[in-house]
Amino acid sequence: MKLLHIDAGIQGDRSASRAISAAIVERLLSDRPDLTLIRRDLVADPIGHLLPGDLAGGEADAIASEFVDADIVVLGTGLYNFTIPTQLKAWIDRILIPGRTFRYGEGGPEGLAGGKRVIVALARGGIYTPGSPAAPLEHAETYLRGVLAFIGITDPEFVIAEGLALGEEVRDAAVSAALQQANDVAGAVAA
Ligand SMILES: Cc1cc2nc3c(=O)[nH]c(=O)nc-3n(C[C@H](O)[C@H](O)[C@H](O)COP(=O)(O)O)c2cc1C
Repeated sequence: MKLLHIDAGIQGDRSASRAISAAIVERLLSDRPDLTLIRRDLVADPIGHLLPGDLAGGEADAIASEFVDADIVVLGTGLYNFTIPTQLKAWIDRILIPGRTFRYGEGGPEGLAGGKRVIVALARGGIYTPGSPAAPLEHAETYLRGVLAFIGITDPEFVIAEGLALGEEVRDAAVSAALQQANDVAGAVAA
């Protein structure tokens, strides 16, 4: 069983999404010693923008295979400028591959990457919960849910810490609640 751990947060030791994704991975590995950990740090080892020639073969194939072969994927990301970090978009550009993770059939698009568990650790500076004034600007959770559903992953788990830019007290409370949730979600996925 393979566990793919991806991080896209650029804030190093201060990155909340990295702390949360690490907590998820730690709990998964503790509950499931049979898991083999595969690490992809999109900041330490960035993938370039998608260019002509990147669409098939080579690195794109290897990145897609790493994702397709994973049984569990843990993805840590921040909300940057109302969407996902550019590093993460470059990774998504390598895994949405017709014939591998989706195909167009007579009934429309069909996801081919179902059957794996995906847990997203998402950190946001503001508040974007449904009904909040800024909710329409949230294009990370909504985008990732859309992309994952498109390739057949319709039941991703999201562990979200938000309001992190609203002062240290709010940040500490939000991160601590998310770390607790991370432990619970990972325990349930591992069971
Ligand atoms: C480049 C950059 C852009 C950001 N843009 C937004 C934004 O559009 N909305 C928001 O609520 N927070 C924004 N933030 C705050 C981050 O969402 C917050 O710092 C969060 O913790 C990021 O995840 P990380 O800690 O894993 O990096 C931004 C932060 C950075 C570094």
